[in-house]
Amino acid sequence: MSIKRIEAVEMEVQRAFCAENKRLLLERYGRPPKALVRAFGCAQNMDDGDKIRGMLAQMGCQFTDSVEEADIALYNTCAIRENAEQKVFGILGQATHQKEARRGMLIALCGCMAQQKEVSDRLKKSFPSVDLVFGPHALYKLPQLLHETLLHAAPGARRRVYDTEDSDGVIAEGIPTLRTDKVRAGLPIMYGCNNFCTYCVVPLVRGRERSRMPEDILAEARGLIAAGVKEITLLGQNVNSYGRDGETGMDFPELLEAVASLPGDFWVRFMTSHPRDCTRKLIDVIARSPKVCRCFHLPVQSGNDRVLRAMNRHYTRAQYLDMIRYAKETVPGIRFTSDIIVGFPGETREEFADTLSLVREVGYQSLFTFIFSPRPGTKAAGMDDPVPAKEKSRWFNELLAVQKECGMRFFDGMEGKTVKVLCEGYGKEKGILSGEKIPDGQALLMGRTEEGMVADFFGDAACIGQFVQVKVTKAQNFALAGAAVCG
Ligand code: 5AD
Ligand code: SF4
Repeated sequence: MSIKRIEAVEMEVQRAFCAENKRLLLERYGRPPKALVRAFGCAQNMDDGDKIRGMLAQMGCQFTDSVEEADIALYNTCAIRENAEQKVFGILGQATHQKEARRGMLIALCGCMAQQKEVSDRLKKSFPSVDLVFGPHALYKLPQLLHETLLHAAPGARRRVYDTEDSDGVIAEGIPTLRTDKVRAGLPIMYGCNNFCTYCVVPLVRGRERSRMPEDILAEARGLIAAGVKEITLLGQNVNSYGRDGETGMDFPELLEAVASLPGDFWVRFMTSHPRDCTRKLIDVIARSPKVCRCFHLPVQSGNDRVLRAMNRHYTRAQYLDMIRYAKETVPGIRFTSDIIVGFPGETREEFADTLSLVREVGYQSLFTFIFSPRPGTKAAGMDDPVPAKEKSRWFNELLAVQKECGMRFFDGMEGKTVKVLCEGYGKEKGILSGEKIPDGQALLMGRTEEGMVADFFGDAACIGQFVQVKVTKAQNFALAGAAVCG
């Protein structure tokens, strides 16, 4: 497969559309327009949300969190489970209501949902209020698409703009980005997925695997570090197959090591690793790179070999556990997190029990757990699924209980210890320190340890965006509490 890299001249064309849109938008609203951008789903989608903001900022937009104020409401959607989609349809209903009350509002929907034919058909039929619909492949073209929308959205000239063509996907460098988080940043290293797990819609909506060039990734990482970002998460649907497309001259462990060797005080994380392509070489890089966090997200999905086969995961329970064992031996103190699907079609109670035993055996710090949701176009959606929803819910709760027991162990013995955290911002008043008096001149802050444990603590607000040593005074309900240690 040859990867379609969008040429610089095309990106120049998009910049020209930004300038033209700025003029049209000012004319339309008589002032700089206010845009609401909401992103749902994974870290990749959040990053795309920042790119959308970056492009809109170039068109002179200001931003709001309230749909009541928005001239342009743009929803970057997720298709991974049905409830994510239902939520978006509900939100679209509210936005439509707003639009009826105000003249000139524009509504756009993009992201993974938009790429699905069932969704775009439903929007065409039942949501005439939505002016612009485009899939992930067309993201870089937002300036041009919005331009068309503005030309067509004049009263009396209504036509909606759709760009949801199927595609293997593209790589577009140089899209402006407006980052909402100044402390932590996602950095996409590749797009798409070739794995075709039988439950998953991602390969259908995000196209084939394609890797960014290492020099582009490293340049972006350098820029983030220079801007004061302290945690970079390398992103891809399957980071372990980075470079498989044959153009990068580097595999994922080499890229990770290159990023982690850049000068500066920062942490590196990465997401998501497919166990099938995870190598000892990657674990060895984690072991020798002090900037790579010792927290490894390795989604297992199921602990049973028959179910793993039906999911098309290409590894066995034993192979997965072997990798975990190697990582535990090689990287002292490493923690694991995982994704698990409960109630895959045809899963039996005994097979589910294998997942419970695997969770116990690995001892995950935390889990992301999901009940199987059939997605249109996937193989699993057509499989026999005899277990009733109620039974699946019971299994799901059982899994949560087992995980609670396993995860809590990491908090035992933490009281009195001093831990390094990256302070991300202010803490929640209703959190673990609620009711305690904030010392004079200090603030309630929150941060995360390298292992991903959340800590609320009292400290100087100047700590935000910095690494801080925190003395732990309390450890309960999966949270740490404490106070910054001065000096
Ligand atoms: N139903 C339930 N969970 C799913 N996931 C992906 N597709 C589905 C589905 N159809 C989960 C997987 C994946 C995570 C991002 O979402 O566990 O790792
Ligand atoms: Fe959701 Fe997957 Fe799309 Fe991310 S890539 S937004 S998880 S469907």
